[in-house]
Amino acid sequence: MAELIAPHGGRLVECLVQGHERDSLLHKAKNLPRIVLDEWEVSDVEMMAIGAVSPLSGFMGQADYDSVVDRLRLADGTVWPIPVTLSVNEEEADRWREGLDFSLVTESGQTVAILHAPELFPYNKLVESKLVYGTTDGSHPGVAKVMGQGSLYLGGRVSVLNLPEHDDFSENRLSPAQTRQEFRKRGWRRVVGFQTRNPIHRAHEYLLRCALELSDGLMIHPLVGKTKGDDLPPELRMRCYQALMEGYLPGDRVLLVVNPASMRYAGPREAVFHAIIRQNYGCSHFIVGRDHAGVGKFYGPFDAQRIFERFGPEELRVIPLCFDNAFFCRVCQGMATVKTCPHVATERVSLSGTAVRQMLSEGKAPPPEFTRPEIAGVLREAYAGRP
Ligand code: ADX
Repeated sequence: MAELIAPHGGRLVECLVQGHERDSLLHKAKNLPRIVLDEWEVSDVEMMAIGAVSPLSGFMGQADYDSVVDRLRLADGTVWPIPVTLSVNEEEADRWREGLDFSLVTESGQTVAILHAPELFPYNKLVESKLVYGTTDGSHPGVAKVMGQGSLYLGGRVSVLNLPEHDDFSENRLSPAQTRQEFRKRGWRRVVGFQTRNPIHRAHEYLLRCALELSDGLMIHPLVGKTKGDDLPPELRMRCYQALMEGYLPGDRVLLVVNPASMRYAGPREAVFHAIIRQNYGCSHFIVGRDHAGVGKFYGPFDAQRIFERFGPEELRVIPLCFDNAFFCRVCQGMATVKTCPHVATERVSLSGTAVRQMLSEGKAPPPEFTRPEIAGVLREAYAGRP
């Protein structure tokens, strides 16, 4: 049987260390200067631990950082669209010495990793914001993160000693090695990955159905790391994905797995990042719809599709499955896009996130053309009693 797609860069780079090496590094970590990671950085370390960001083996040093920001590639030319960096403030930077390791700890005090002999370098927040997020507007959540963080980066290889602790979604928390094993077990080779950070609506479902028609299987891969304040929490979204799977999708052809990443809202660049992550999990194809990973009006609706034209198939193996805006058409009596529906806009049921939130906060359910009733039920229940 043909093999699954290879990880980006050729092999899974898992930074989790075990056994004697872990024991001795844990002992060593006790005497090292500590850096407290924020939630976003913790999720980056988790991704490194399990190989989700292969071929990265740590936080970026200056050569990779500059190259990624300028030309969407690591210094060795491998396609990479988003900086994965560890910022420090001046006080933390004062403890830096050439060749000195750091221990990386969570806000609750758990030691997660050792950062080996990092390099310390300055960066330009405005340049990073402009080139990575396409704006320097502080209302963009990614830009706000860059502007609010320390003014220096520490870059170096990490050895992960403990995976961050989680008490949720244990059944869905598979690593790339585990999803690959599961895909092989199920005999899947042509596997489509689906990123989402929202409750699942019929437009999403339409993309999933189209993908299922063309593939061996589908991995619904909701992002459960840090998201902006008005996005719905992952516990609630997971109930929506589960309701869709139970009520409407063939269980043997769909796998629901959580993606521990944090959301950057970097639109086009993040679409490529999302695709690479899914390739590492074993997906040969990746869905990119309207305004993928967008926020507000910062990106054009199809910028995140066009960016893939910059890369040849030999340098980015995962294939984007691009979709136009999907909606329910009252005349067609079904889901469609402008590619398949000739009717006027007034016949199309399309609701903005704001409109849906407004309906829910008034105790109304979104119409069945927009959301499956089971999912509307989950959302209404969650909204009941909110101020
Ligand atoms: S995202 O930030 O993760 O992209 P969301 O969860 O809403 O947000 O979207 C998941 C995927 O579905 C993305 O690829 C997005 O482009 C796509 N998508 C969402 N709504 C639509 C729609 N109405 N038509 C086409 N694609 C859509």
